[in-house]
Amino acid sequence: MVFAWLESERQAHDNGIPQKMDKVMSETSNANPNVLKTGVVMDPIGQIKTYKDSTFAMLLEAQRRDHALYYMEPGDIFAKDGRVFAGMQQLEVRDNTTDWFSLVPVGNRPLDELDIVLMRRDPPFDMGYIYTTYMLELAEKTGTMIINRPQSLRDANEKFFINNFPQCCVPMLISSSSSLIREFVLQHGHCVVKPLDGMGGESVFQVSESDMNLNVILETITLHDSRPVMAQRYIDEISEGDKRILVVNGEPVPYALARYAGKGDFRGNLAKGGSSKGVPLSDRDRWICEQVAPELKKRGILFAGLDVIGDWLSEVNVTSPTCIRELDKEFGLNIAGQLFDGVEAMLK
Ligand SMILES: Nc1ncnc2c1ncn2[C@@H]1O[C@H](COP(=O)(O)OP(=O)(O)O)[C@@H](O)[C@H]1O
Ligand SMILES: [Mg+2]
Repeated sequence: MVFAWLESERQAHDNGIPQKMDKVMSETSNANPNVLKTGVVMDPIGQIKTYKDSTFAMLLEAQRRDHALYYMEPGDIFAKDGRVFAGMQQLEVRDNTTDWFSLVPVGNRPLDELDIVLMRRDPPFDMGYIYTTYMLELAEKTGTMIINRPQSLRDANEKFFINNFPQCCVPMLISSSSSLIREFVLQHGHCVVKPLDGMGGESVFQVSESDMNLNVILETITLHDSRPVMAQRYIDEISEGDKRILVVNGEPVPYALARYAGKGDFRGNLAKGGSSKGVPLSDRDRWICEQVAPELKKRGILFAGLDVIGDWLSEVNVTSPTCIRELDKEFGLNIAGQLFDGVEAMLK
């Protein structure tokens, strides 16, 4: 039924006949063709914590700019005969911790009617994620701006990407070979090993030569030498925090959010009970941003989160980086505003 409707709708669309659902969309955007239509692909909005959700900050800002908002979850998106659609819902947001959104279904709508789509689904970076990027890439070909660019979401693996900037990094090795990693650990002493597709501090191990669990950890994390992982020299300055630096349209936000490990852990991830505090960027932080930002811009990565420990870049987050809310609050910034200033200028 849905497909039959889409087919007739598309033919009519091709014939230039005004459509019932087009009417719905234009009504929802105040019938003003100048109103930007911004879609968001995200995990269920009912489950977010508004006070620390960067996607929510982006939505509030888009709405403040009078964009019409459309909500999708990854499972709502589908491609039919070369065109991408989604079961969309018109979205309204409110900066309120108990009642923060309203949704009104508008049916299956083509993504090419949207000006902007924020792809903000959280990892896991699995095949489902990759297929979603294929669909978004198809919509991008017909002129919808997808943030971040789908191809780059696939290409810029959050752990591997820093290999493009070895001048900013401590010694590291990406390998599936336990014996190579073991050699690396022997050479560098205290190290971490981590999966290439983790987030939120998942499966980040500290290891050292004398660790009686070293073999077991390497077997487990490489799935018996069948999956490459990252080994990195341990950076002692982690005690001074893991700094999240947001790079927006190629420009660093001047303050980073330093995240400190909670009691009994070494991982600075807020998801693992860490705490945070804003700090101004150091000269070295700015230098690292200068190294990385042009590459991000080139790849259409308009919103990225660099993790810097001490003087060293340790990760570049591109899928769904966060920390806008905390930095906005502490320093009176409007980071999502910075993002949309750039995006709106590009759309002109
Ligand atoms: N090379 C390192 N030296 C010291 N601590 C590290 C290192 N790499 C990661 N960590 C710790 O593990 C946490 C998570 O690592 P990270 O590489 O950022 O992966 P994730 O994607 O899980 O956040 C960091 O916040 C930090 O506390
Ligand atoms: Mg991290």
